[in-house]
This record gives sequence, C-alpha cells and structure tokens, in this order.
Amino acid sequence: MNAQAKLPADWRPLNNNLSRGHGFEPLRIEGRLPEGLHGTLYRNGPGLFELHGKRLRHAFEADGVISAVRFGGGAAQGAARVVETDGLKRERAAGRRLYGSGAPWLTRLYHQLKGESRNPANTSVFWHGGQLLALCEAGLPTVLHPETLETLGETTLDGALLGAFSAHPHRVNARRTTYNFGLRYGRVTTLDVYAMPDGEPVKRLCAIPLDAPVMLHDFIVTEGHLVFFVSPAVVQVFKAMLALGDLASLFKWEPERGTEVIVVPIDAPDQPRRFTTEAFWCFHPVQGVSLANEQIQVDYVRYPKLNLNELAKETDDVSAESDAGRIHRATLNLAAGTLSSEELWDQGCEFPRVHPDREGGTAERIWTVWGAKEQGIARLDWREGRHRGWVPPSHWRCSEPVPVKRGPEEQDVWALTLIYDGHQQVSGVGVLDGERPEDGPVGVAWFDHAVPETYHGAWVG
Ligand SMILES: [Fe+2]
Repeated sequence: MNAQAKLPADWRPLNNNLSRGHGFEPLRIEGRLPEGLHGTLYRNGPGLFELHGKRLRHAFEADGVISAVRFGGGAAQGAARVVETDGLKRERAAGRRLYGSGAPWLTRLYHQLKGESRNPANTSVFWHGGQLLALCEAGLPTVLHPETLETLGETTLDGALLGAFSAHPHRVNARRTTYNFGLRYGRVTTLDVYAMPDGEPVKRLCAIPLDAPVMLHDFIVTEGHLVFFVSPAVVQVFKAMLALGDLASLFKWEPERGTEVIVVPIDAPDQPRRFTTEAFWCFHPVQGVSLANEQIQVDYVRYPKLNLNELAKETDDVSAESDAGRIHRATLNLAAGTLSSEELWDQGCEFPRVHPDREGGTAERIWTVWGAKEQGIARLDWREGRHRGWVPPSHWRCSEPVPVKRGPEEQDVWALTLIYDGHQQVSGVGVLDGERPEDGPVGVAWFDHAVPETYHGAWVG
C-alpha cells in the first residue's frame, strides 16, 4: 500500500512531490479569463510525499503544499510552496524522517515519547483576521505570508487554542461569527469548540468529553446550533502509543458503537444534546438549518463507513459506486433523539460548496466534484430537480469547486477548480460560468508544473 496507488496512471504524479516551489509568476492563459474576476484562490493539499528517499504511506501524512492563483484584468499569476513547519524543518536538519510512516519504528517511537510530532498542515486554508492560515485536523494553524506563501510558524490564535484546530471553520453570517473545533487526545478525548466573533478574540465555547478517541473531520452550523457527527472511526490506543503501523491502520471502524450526534446550542453551549444512531461516515456536510419543534435539517455527503485503507488501496478502480459518498438529507429530532436520513442524489460526489452568501443556510444549488472517476464538476439544483455537469477529458482531474460571488443569485458565481492535466503533467485553475457549468471552463490559468493532490481552497477577494 502506498499513497499514490489509488490514482489511475494518468493522475499518479499528483502524489509526487511538488517539483518547484516559487512565488507569484505569470501563468499561461488558455481561453479567456473574466475581466471582472479579481482576487486570489489559495488551496492546500498534501504535496511532499517523499523526503530523504523515504516515502510516506498515506497522503494524509504528507506535508502541505499551498498553491495560489491571483486573478485580475484577464490575467493570472501563480505561486506554490511546501508548508515548512517546525517538524519538517527538524526532519530536514536531521537528514531523515523522524515522524510517521517515513521513519523507522524506533525513531518515531522515540520522538513520540518526547512529545514531538510533525504538523502536516495539509488540508485547507483559512483567511482570519488578516492572516492566511494552513489548517489540518491534527495540529495548530500554520501562518503563511499571503504574498510569498512563505511559512511564518504555528499560532495558538493569541493563546486561545488548547490543541488542534480543524480544517473546516464555518461562518454564521447572522451572528457575525465563525466557529470551529479541535480534538485533544489523552486519557479522555475532548472536543473543544471555538467561536471567532468578527473583530474579537477567539474564545472556547465548550469542551465536550467523547466516549472514544475518534477521527472527526468536519461539522455543521445553523443559526442556532453546531452539529457533530461523531462516527466510530476509533484510534487503536495501544498501536498509537507504541507508534505501530501507518495512519490507516491506527483507525478501526467499530460500527457497533454507532454514530453519536452531538448538538451544541450556540446560546447554551454547556448544554449539548447527545444521542446515538446507526453508524455512518461523513467527511463533509453541505449545510444545515434549525427548524421548529427541536428539529434540525442537515444536507451532507454520507458513506456507509470510513475506510482509510480504501483511500490508498492498490487499484485503479476509484469509480466503484459502492465506495462513493452520496448527498443525503437528515432530519434530527432532538426531543426524540433520532436521525432519519434519505438520499437526495443517486450519484457519487464530494467536496460540496455553495454560493458564499448562502453558506450555513438553505442553498438550493450545490457545487460538487462529480463523475465516473470523480474528476468532473456538477451543479445540483434542488428546485429544478436536476444537475448540470461537466466531465472533462479523461486525463484531466478536477478538484473541489470554489464558488466566487458574481451576483446575489445562487447560480451567479464563477466556480474555480484546480485541474490536473495528466498528459502534460501540469495544473491550472479553470474558471466555470455558474450559469453554464456544463460548457466547462471559459478559461484556464496553467502553471508550468503539476500542483500535487489538493483538498480545499479559499477565495480572498
Ligand atoms: Fe475536508
């Protein structure tokens, strides 16, 4: 098993190291970029898979690579760099991997016992208080220089963070506040919930003890509640303590535990509601809304289970329909302690996004990665009951579409997706017209190299 095995041959270079780190430089434009598109798309994903001849076994372990494409006046400039965290600097100085699957067992055990680890900083980017932050669920935020992408170091956000800070902060516009969480593993695993009111210091809303050390990737916000689907992907404690095995083998799916639903009322965070339902997994929700009678509606991408080995298996069959996530709508009844869920779309998809003004609300148009090999882009429309999809050439692969506001209507966006061309082995940001996504990009700004695997992006206009 290795990190690149899940990709078809054309796409395997996505799991190779970034070939060249650099600041902003002109990109080659194919087609025509919109004149009115002004701003920068920052993206993050694993991009340093091999160091000193040792390859990491799972992409989730690899050090982050930040890419940035700056648009303006129909032109674009691009930059890309590895996130040089303190842990990576220690490994570079030592001339060998010290942490994770790239290090010999005794080496990684020794450093684990010293309390040292490497923050991969490889999942998302977040613009907060004038700072550009690289986030992942296993570490503190890492501050980056927005003009050079150089790494400035980890931050606790002025001492507010007690530990990890997840890759998925969510904003509630009505409260002018962004929320996030982090897990702290220990004798008891603790879910720390944070609030970031505009212009005010970050504060911890509550700390919730969990029944088991689990993986938790994302959560749902409504105007009144924060909702966590705590699924039974459980850390194997003794393996973890002894630094045995790779990342995938550290988590075991234990469906008999079920998925615990934790609902934090924003106005009464010390009174969370908790109940357990059948086991399922969700990397990413779409949106949620609090309804009358203590009910909450959540749209989300649901999987029967989490299988980290599946994400790195030795096969080209990434299109296996049974493995794909599907958009569901769940109704949570807090009084009864129940969750009922129905499938909304029968096709596999991931990385859902909505018009920026509708985040945390009731969007009816959803942007996702979609297609037989999950390489295209679709815009779902609940009102029309259909989707508009673009499937690119088979050697192209698209990433999470980031909608950039063009106007107030939901479809009035530019959807930006980082595309990899497996024949040319280069990457570029394609700009799709939100009105006609099925036509494909109106223009693409191409780097002269590949940008490795990428997960999440943010638009800074
Ligand atoms: Fe994510």
